[in-house]
Amino acid sequence: MTSQKIGIYPGTFDPITNGHADIIGRAARVLDKLVVGVAINPGKGPIFTIDERVELVREEIAHLDNSNGGMIEIIPFQSLLIHFAREVEATVIVRGLRAVSDFDYEFQMASMNAKMAPDIETLCLMASDKYHFIASSLVKEIAKLNGDVSQFVSPRIQERLSERLGG
Ligand code: COA
Repeated sequence: MTSQKIGIYPGTFDPITNGHADIIGRAARVLDKLVVGVAINPGKGPIFTIDERVELVREEIAHLDNSNGGMIEIIPFQSLLIHFAREVEATVIVRGLRAVSDFDYEFQMASMNAKMAPDIETLCLMASDKYHFIASSLVKEIAKLNGDVSQFVSPRIQERLSERLGG
């Protein structure tokens, strides 16, 4: 058992937005190691494959690796979140709270995870005010309809979205 404080930040990341990147950077600062768990999540019908989503997360946070304190790893997963957390020896699940509307869902998920794994804590970070309205599905919808998503995602993601969605 490691003495390092390891956290896991799970999500579908289809694609990673500026809001996700902000949470990753901030969580990495308070943990020894952060595992970004990219959920395969076929039920959500992602537009990017699991390999693409992992690669996009990797590219988006490359600049954080050396400068931000905690080490960051990106790993795809398909299992129950608490099983994956145990696999990577994480004792903290990091979630971002954007608005009051996120609370019910996060509260329910945190409570169910806590019942199943009382030794794993859920830690919610408040989304930074400039990102609290972002959602990947809305970003995709805007990109698909040729709207400007430059405030919500990086230029790299913007380009990938327009290639993929033909915007
Ligand atoms: N900034 C910007 N957007 C954010 C964000 C932030 N800080 N935090 C969340 N979002 C967005 C996401 O982009 C996503 O947008 P979309 O629904 O429009 O695509 C939305 O908020 C929901 O994100 P999230 O709550 O992270 O859901 P998810 O579907 O990406 O991931 C899992 C959910 C993977 C964490 C969850 O399904 C899980 O744990 N699965 C494993 C199976 C399991 O253990 N289930 C039992 C749980 S009790």
